[in-house]
Amino acid sequence: MAINIEGLSFHYGAGKNVKQILDDINLTVEPGQITAIVGQTGSGKSTLVQHLNALLLPSGGQVVVGDQVVTSKTKEKALGPVRAQVGMVFQFPENQLFASTVLEDVMYGPKNFGKNDEEAEALAKKALIQVGLKEEFWQHSPFDLSGGQMRRVALAGVLAMDPQAMVFDEPAAGLDPKGQEELLDLLQELKAAQKTVVLISHQMDQVLALADQVVVMQDGRVAAIEAPDQLFLRDRQWFLDHALDLPEPVAFAKDLEDHGYHFDHLPKSVADLAEQIKVQVNWDRVTVPNSLTGGDRDE
Ligand SMILES: Nc1ncnc2c1ncn2[C@@H]1O[C@H](COP(=O)(O)OP(=O)(O)OP(=O)(O)O)[C@@H](O)[C@H]1O
Ligand SMILES: [Mg+2]
Repeated sequence: MAINIEGLSFHYGAGKNVKQILDDINLTVEPGQITAIVGQTGSGKSTLVQHLNALLLPSGGQVVVGDQVVTSKTKEKALGPVRAQVGMVFQFPENQLFASTVLEDVMYGPKNFGKNDEEAEALAKKALIQVGLKEEFWQHSPFDLSGGQMRRVALAGVLAMDPQAMVFDEPAAGLDPKGQEELLDLLQELKAAQKTVVLISHQMDQVLALADQVVVMQDGRVAAIEAPDQLFLRDRQWFLDHALDLPEPVAFAKDLEDHGYHFDHLPKSVADLAEQIKVQVNWDRVTVPNSLTGGDRDE
């Protein structure tokens, strides 16, 4: 299920207090692809993605989710199907947890969309296993969990509904390295299952490794939409101007280019970078300084 954003603008407030947040956003996200949204803090990333499942309605323009069109005039009762198809894992997962136990929390979505208790429980357990939250926590209050564990519960709550599209707002925040690794695997599984995946991230290594397209936000506008191996070819100053890091292998390659190295393609990983360096180094011609070999001294 594709999602199309067409001429989207959004503001908070009215009259003199109006605060323009998003301006003329045009964007398509496709099934079977991961779209990364990056950009400076306050650039409008979270506000943008809340339009994908009609949590916020456009002030102008429209969002087309599958065959449903959402505009400023869409009535509340028409939004249910949109919300059922687009799952959202929020930036602060504690904001989306509410039930008295973890299991009930994850069961809520499937029950809300018509599953009976037994079916909902089976789906919830499957999702909790999928996100790696140990069974010993299932009867705990979600609010007694750590940040990383809460994030897993929030994730399970969305997976249990099996939506066509999933939006993750900085999902790695609060996860330990193993949790982050598992999350990346999960995103790739969703992509392989032809889901439409949208990911907000400040971690450019993750973006380079995962994304099919990258949307760069700046001051509520789209500054660029490109595949990562195009985007990261831009010069360093552009990334500084947009408050973005470079992925580590890319930053290193750019440093080497300043010293005469040339890279045929953007290194996707450290291993890729190492391979490309290897073919450029002619070991026979490498001169080792005398100071290192100890020979040829003056004294
Ligand atoms: N409820 C609100 N009322 C008024 N302004 C808001 C509201 N929520 C967000 N904003 C403003 O909208 C702008 C965009 O915020 P948003 O949360 O979308 O940024 P972001 O790119 O997700 O930032 P971050 O990387 O810090 O999460 C900010 O200037 C913020 O102050
Ligand atoms: Mg945000």
